[in-house]
Formats: sequence, C-alpha cells, structure tokens
Amino acid sequence: AALADMPAGVPEPRRVQDRRAPAEPAPRDGFRNAADSDPSIASNREWAAGIVDRMTSSRLGAETAAAHVVTGASELEAILEGASAAGEAWRALGADARAEILHRAGDVLEARRADLIEVMGAECGKVVEQSDPEVSEAVDFAHYYAEQGRRLGQVDGAEFAPVALTVVTPPWNFPVAIPAGSTLAALAAGSAVVIKPAGQSRRAGAVMVEALWEAGVPREVLRYVQLEDRELGRRLIAHPAVQRVVLTGAYETAALFRSFRPDLPLLAETSGKNAIIVTPSADLDVAARDVAFSAFGHAGQKCSAASLVILVGSVATSDRFRQQLVDAVTSMDVGMPWHPASRIGPLIGPAEGKLLRALTTLEPGQRWLVQPRRLDEEGALWTPGIRVGVQPGSEFHLTEYFGPVLGVMSAATLEEAVALVNAIDYGLTSGLHSLDEAEIATWLRTVEAGNAYVNRGTTGAIVQRQPFGGWKKSAVGAGTKAGGPSYLFGFGTWTDAAP
Ligand code: SER
Repeated sequence: AALADMPAGVPEPRRVQDRRAPAEPAPRDGFRNAADSDPSIASNREWAAGIVDRMTSSRLGAETAAAHVVTGASELEAILEGASAAGEAWRALGADARAEILHRAGDVLEARRADLIEVMGAECGKVVEQSDPEVSEAVDFAHYYAEQGRRLGQVDGAEFAPVALTVVTPPWNFPVAIPAGSTLAALAAGSAVVIKPAGQSRRAGAVMVEALWEAGVPREVLRYVQLEDRELGRRLIAHPAVQRVVLTGAYETAALFRSFRPDLPLLAETSGKNAIIVTPSADLDVAARDVAFSAFGHAGQKCSAASLVILVGSVATSDRFRQQLVDAVTSMDVGMPWHPASRIGPLIGPAEGKLLRALTTLEPGQRWLVQPRRLDEEGALWTPGIRVGVQPGSEFHLTEYFGPVLGVMSAATLEEAVALVNAIDYGLTSGLHSLDEAEIATWLRTVEAGNAYVNRGTTGAIVQRQPFGGWKKSAVGAGTKAGGPSYLFGFGTWTDAAP
C-alpha cells in the first residue's frame, strides 16, 4: 500500500519494444514515451549483436563531421548570420508546420536507432544497455517538444516571441539525447540553431543532426559546426546574433562562457555530486541494484550519477547492505561496448587529474570496499571502486569526479543524512530508498536537488514524467527543466497580446 500511494518521483516502467512486432505509429496527439528494446526477447538480442559487430569498423557520421570544421572567424560569422536570417522563414512556417517536421524527426531518430547506438558505441564507448534508452529519450524529446511548441501559440492574453538564434553546446556523455533535446526545444520554439557537439562525440552529433535534416529541418536553420580552436569558441559565444546559449557541462564552463560575454543569455545544466540515502525501511535488494546502476552505468560519467550512498542507522551498522552492494557491483562486467557482455564501458579518455586520484588514493579514515583496477594500457578501462569511511567535509564528500568510483557514508538518522546531502554545493539529482511514508515526506520536503527520486536510481530521467534540471551550482542562468512543460519558455519572451 505504501508503494501505491507514494507521492512523487515514483517511475512507471518504460514500455519495452518487441522488435518482431510492427513499429507502432508515432503519437500525434498527446504524448507517449518511446519504448526501449527489450533484451529478454531473442530477436532483440540478435539485432543488438549485429550493431555491436559493426562498432569496430563504424564510419557513421565521419563524413559530415569532417566536412564542417570551421577554421576562420569570418566563416563562423557568416554561418551565425546566415542561420539567424534563415530563422525568419522557420518562424513564418508557424507552430503547426514546425510540429509536423519535429514529429517526423522523432520518427527518423527511431528509424535510425541502430545507427545511433552504433556510433555512440564506436565513438564514445557506450554499451547498448545505456545507448538504447538514450535513443528513446531523443525520440521522446522530438514528439514532446513538437506538441509543446504548438502550445506556445495557444496561451490566452500572451504572445510568445522566439529568439532568432540559439547556440547549442552539448557534452560527450549523452552524445545524442542531450544535443537532440536542446536543439529540438529551440527549433520547436521557433529559433534557428547552430550546434557545436563536443570534440569527443562529433560523429554521434553528426548522425543526430543528419536525422533532423532528413526529417525536413532546413540545413540553413540547423547548422552543425566544429571549431578549430578555442578562440573561435569564444567568438561563437560572444557573437551578438546569438540570443541563447544552451550548455550542458561543467560549472566551470558556464563561468568561462560568462567571462566571454557578461550579459550572456545562458540556459545551463551543470555539474552534480549526487547521493542516494538508504534507510532501514528500504527494500535493500532493490536499493543495492539501483545504487550500483546509478553509480557505474556509463562508468559513472553522468551528471546525474550517484557518487555517494549514505547508509542510515542499522543499514550502516550491519554489513548486510554493503555485502549486497559488493555483489551487485562486482557482477557487472567491464569491457569495450563491442563485447556484448560489457555493462560498464570505458571512460571517454584516460583517467587523469582528480578522477585518477579518486581511483588510486584514499583519504584518512577511508578504505576500499572494492578497489578499482585499471584493465588497459591507456588507462580508460577501470573496474568500479567503492570506498567506505568517507567523512563529512572531506574531498570525496564534496567533489564531482565523473567516473566509476562511489563513496559510502554513514548517518545515525535520516535528518543527519539529508544534512550531508545539503552540505554539497551542487543539487542535481538525489535518491531515497525507503518504504516509510513519513520518511519519504520528510526527505522530499528537505532535500536540495532538482530531481528527487524515490525508490529508483538517480539517472535516466524520462521525458515528461521526470523533467530534468538542477538546483544550486547544478544550474546556471534561466534554464527550467528539460523535458518539462515550461522548458520552451527559455527560448523567447512573452508579451501581453493586443486586446
Ligand atoms: N538526463 C540524464 C539523466 O537523467 C542526465 O543528463 O541521467
């Protein structure tokens, strides 16, 4: 009964797709989440095995990506001014015609699911278990924002004027869903877009952009660029034709963008240092599974990843949960995505700096519950690490590492555990595992996080059901939550309509 009545954050399971069945028609009225591919169906496993086989020789996106390296300031300016001008015709199309194109974009992204999974594995090391739901999320963004764009024109007494030009600077860790989401939102609102994918994921970004072009988004309205150097990056951000910049990345990058242009209209979702609290009332089996997946899915390289688990009361003082966690984590195979058994893939590059330190050294009072091991020459493939004895105020308590290492903390009470979470500067995602309604209510009221999840992991927000965005140093600028009903408002201004 407690589960059925849970107030918020309880996910419905995503539907799963049986690839033997004919594809369902895309939703046109209303919204329905796309289905992930169900790996318990043999034909889906064969389908995935075919994709995995192609990863080592994949050339997808290579041509598009190579063809668009901008080398000079005047070329960049021409692109920005051209896109800004092309935005006129895009706006003149009207919300309904734009919505039709964006729904088609959702259909094309769905049709290219295998290509997108292939390029994410080949270029960024994503395993299918991670990249398949990422395609679903991109498809969801297309259909969801298509309808939200239509709604912008239907508000009584107010008129929405979109900006002319948005620059999108996505990260490499969600190389399809995040660039797709930002781009589709701006397009749905009526803005032209210049997108500059991260250097590590330019091919995945290119395949995503090709899908939108194929769906009918004009090439002049959606421009894809790579920049030869950092000075061009500064010019991209600082150019006066650019009216919005969407950044998903480090807090420090948002500060850098601001230094390029103090009045920068920034919509930024930035760093996170996320914790899951486990209380004695929790279903410990479920909690162990969710913590393991949240901490080590995509090798922990998610702003939403769990980096801390805080054990409360008897969960802290008995060994039972820690042992379950060790079992869950050590059963996850580590390897390259073209080995179908791999559940944890490589880091985007060799571990270095603070992440390397977190994988190789302990602070006073800490010990390894599971010690990470490097598996390759380069230093990108690591088995997961779990350290216990993380002290309040220590470096590990407060620092984002973006890799496969989890810290365990202890608290006497739920309130003490929440204080440990709220002491962190960031506030992106947070988790609670508890079957006690009073505990859930207390936690929801007091925890400082943009996305608060009850009895689920902290990653993989689902469009419309779990709009995604940060609080505290996890958000910069005017951004509201991606995949939520007000996200498009960020791409324009409202004025009172003439009577
Ligand atoms: N939306 C992603 C997640 O929820 C993070 O960007 O994991």
